[in-house]
Amino acid sequence: MIGMALISLLCGALSGKLAATASTGFASNLRQKLFYKVENFSFANLDRFNTASLVTRLTTDVTNIQQSYMMIIRMLVRAPFMLIMALCMAISISPKLSIIFAVTLPLLVVGLLVGVRLAFPRFEKMLHKYDDMNESTQENLIGIRAVKAFVREDNEIKKFKSVSETVQKLQFSAEKIIVFAFPFMQLLVYACIVCIIFFGGRDIINSVNGKLPGGMDLGDLTAFLSYVMQILMSLMMVAMTFMMIVISRASLDRVVQVLDEDIDIKDREDAEDIYPKDGSIDFDNVDFSYSKSPDVLNLENIDLHIKSGETVGIIGGTGSAKTTLVQLIPRLYDVFDGSVKVGGVDVRDYKIENLRGAIGMVLQKNVLFSGTIRQNLLWGNKDATQEEIEHAAKAAQAHDFIMSFPNGYETDLSQGGVNVSGGQKQRLCIARALLKHPKIMILDDSTSAVDTATDASIRSGLKQEFGDTTVLIIAQRISSVQDADRIIVMNDGKIDAVGTHEQLLESNEIYRDVYLSQQKGSADEEVQNG
Ligand SMILES: Nc1ncnc2c1ncn2[C@@H]1O[C@H](COP(=O)(O)OP(=O)(O)OP(=O)(O)O)[C@@H](O)[C@H]1O
Ligand SMILES: [Mg+2]
Repeated sequence: MIGMALISLLCGALSGKLAATASTGFASNLRQKLFYKVENFSFANLDRFNTASLVTRLTTDVTNIQQSYMMIIRMLVRAPFMLIMALCMAISISPKLSIIFAVTLPLLVVGLLVGVRLAFPRFEKMLHKYDDMNESTQENLIGIRAVKAFVREDNEIKKFKSVSETVQKLQFSAEKIIVFAFPFMQLLVYACIVCIIFFGGRDIINSVNGKLPGGMDLGDLTAFLSYVMQILMSLMMVAMTFMMIVISRASLDRVVQVLDEDIDIKDREDAEDIYPKDGSIDFDNVDFSYSKSPDVLNLENIDLHIKSGETVGIIGGTGSAKTTLVQLIPRLYDVFDGSVKVGGVDVRDYKIENLRGAIGMVLQKNVLFSGTIRQNLLWGNKDATQEEIEHAAKAAQAHDFIMSFPNGYETDLSQGGVNVSGGQKQRLCIARALLKHPKIMILDDSTSAVDTATDASIRSGLKQEFGDTTVLIIAQRISSVQDADRIIVMNDGKIDAVGTHEQLLESNEIYRDVYLSQQKGSADEEVQNG
């Protein structure tokens, strides 16, 4: 027995170590797979999952799964083995007493099933609230400056308190059921032991009295009891593992949901390895809908042909679908109907990498990442030389202010650029896109925070240094687009008019109104300035 105990100790320690290796490795693999999947999500996929929920899935949910995986590999291998062996031994000692198991086992199974049925939906609900809590945290930490500007701290604290208390309540209501499992099983175990001692003891007394010759003796009963303990212990292990699986099922479903999400924008199987030959853009009768429903079209019947090297301004009220229009060019979304061509080829026929590599896009909601200015600019072209970097930065009117920092291009952008101004950030984003030497450059409201004079210098810098590039400029200011070869006026998802500044002033009411209101604004300013 001592030898066996030592072997068991050794094996137990080894099993613990191996299970830890396996389960941490499994969790790490799963996280990487998830992360890889999310990185490959299209904009439309990202619209469907909120960021906070993705964070919970990558952290809490994976940890839940990891724990139950560890239980499975440790318990579900050992327990059935022990159960069967101990059962055989117990039956061989006393088939009659073993009948007790026939009563206990079904009770245990029924109890477990009821617990599972009650607990599962509660865990699901709790995880959902967890998402809300993470969302609230994330939103607040990112937007903490807005919270302070609006003196909303108290409201936000109250809001957070309420979600975190809801999480607590739901967690409590789920755990409440789980904690019942253990006492319930103990009750069964002790009931079993009492029965065995009662019936076994009676047999022994009868056997001693000679009423039941050849019956059980005390040694048999002791052996039987220790096998019973083993059987019940393994049953409990199985039951606990089962519970754990149930808890993690909710997490598992959520993780699988991400892994199974159909990435709707990916390379076609037969996509050729070609690059856009020039910067021409053609929209042929394009309809587009974010919700993929023909009843809610965000872009309707767009027919537009832009020659390579042209500079095109896009203007229109907020929500008139300017951003939506240009997002179709690098295939951030796919058209609902019609087609978008770049360099004469449907964007869906390119490999995405090749298509996007030829397009420099400065998003309206642009972001920089932590790291130095140089590291951020290198996103445009990781092999760029210092000369190329400066060339792009000069065209974007960013070089001078970068050099005014003590560390120049090595200046750290903490937290994605809190230490640069809004207009400086925009210019860094333009420089980053220019470093790609794109065939098409899309500036989505990218100079809104830049003063008019610098805005004009950026445009002339673009024209001089990147003359072959097709440039699309979305702007709210007429002055940003009035020198463009053509200007598109968007209105409510449709093209209202296309023409030069002079033509539009003459013929387009929307354009004229915008122009006059902005003229009036600057005239007032001049009067004020004397
Ligand atoms: N990801 C999205 N999911 C669903 N609807 C969206 C999404 N993005 C934009 N929309 C809707 O599409 C319409 C056009 O939006 P879009 O962003 O293209 O306008 P915009 O002309 O760029 O406006 P702004 O000048 O304010 O940038 C709006 O009604 C908006 O509510
Ligand atoms: Mg926009």
